[in-house]
Amino acid sequence: MGRLDNKVAIITGGASGIGERMVDLFSQEGAIVIAADINEAAFEHVSQKENVYGMKLNVALDEDWEVLAKEVSDRFGKIDILVNNAGISSEKPYQDIDLDDWQKMLSINGYGPFAGIKYVAPYMAAQKEGSIINISSYTAQIGQGFNHYSASKGAVRALSKAAATTFGRQGVRVNTLFPGIIETPMTQSLSTSKELLGSLIQATPLQRLGKPEDIANAALFLASDESSYITGSELVIDGGFSAQ
Ligand SMILES: NC(=O)c1ccc[n+]([C@@H]2O[C@H](COP(=O)([O-])OP(=O)(O)OC[C@H]3O[C@@H](n4cnc5c(N)ncnc54)[C@H](O)[C@@H]3O)[C@@H](O)[C@H]2O)c1
Repeated sequence: MGRLDNKVAIITGGASGIGERMVDLFSQEGAIVIAADINEAAFEHVSQKENVYGMKLNVALDEDWEVLAKEVSDRFGKIDILVNNAGISSEKPYQDIDLDDWQKMLSINGYGPFAGIKYVAPYMAAQKEGSIINISSYTAQIGQGFNHYSASKGAVRALSKAAATTFGRQGVRVNTLFPGIIETPMTQSLSTSKELLGSLIQATPLQRLGKPEDIANAALFLASDESSYITGSELVIDGGFSAQ
């Protein structure tokens, strides 16, 4: 028996990195998984997997969310799980960030999860059950020079609490994960500098960087009925980096 048998899950950014690992794990655990991503070429390979359906989604667009939520509900009869995982990052220096940079970052990383909840939570509320998992970042909790990226992830943190209280009485749970540095295409540039990589590992109490499965395993718990009394919670997964 799988831990997500008979559940229908939407995972945004499901074509790469952390999202792709969640897609694999959730489908192995018995869920029907919709890997929703802006990168159609990338999600085609994800769609080859059993019980996985790739769908086009730009998380920053209301119309995309409206169509996706209706299509998933019509086709599979319900929506049990939403993981707001899609995101972009930037290491642009503070002084170089302008309003366009800010708006792009906040519209994908901030409005994306907001819109996901806005369009999907009503389907969950109608069935009186649902689990939403938002992917923030350890940079929402400590200063690390990521500037507008950190601000966007801080928005996700606050939004999760607001949504947990807004939808809790309708049976919808909302929880947040705070990954540290995880080895994915997003952090590929780190591996080009052995020195930087070494210093980051050195600075981490558990003495390694994170892997996509470290985040996927926690998301699996929050998606499953094992966490049925948990909402509005925050889980940091960073090898102890931000505990220092
Ligand atoms: N990798 C890390 O170290 C790290 C640390 C903390 C938080 N995170 C967060 O985890 C999440 C996943 O990151 P990752 O490392 O797997 O990155 P990744 O770049 O490997 O994957 C991100 C995915 O999001 C998709 N995406 C980007 N913009 C989109 C949009 N507008 N609409 C739909 N899909 C879009 C991309 O196509 C890609 O498939 C992100 O929210 C990221 O901010 C990552």
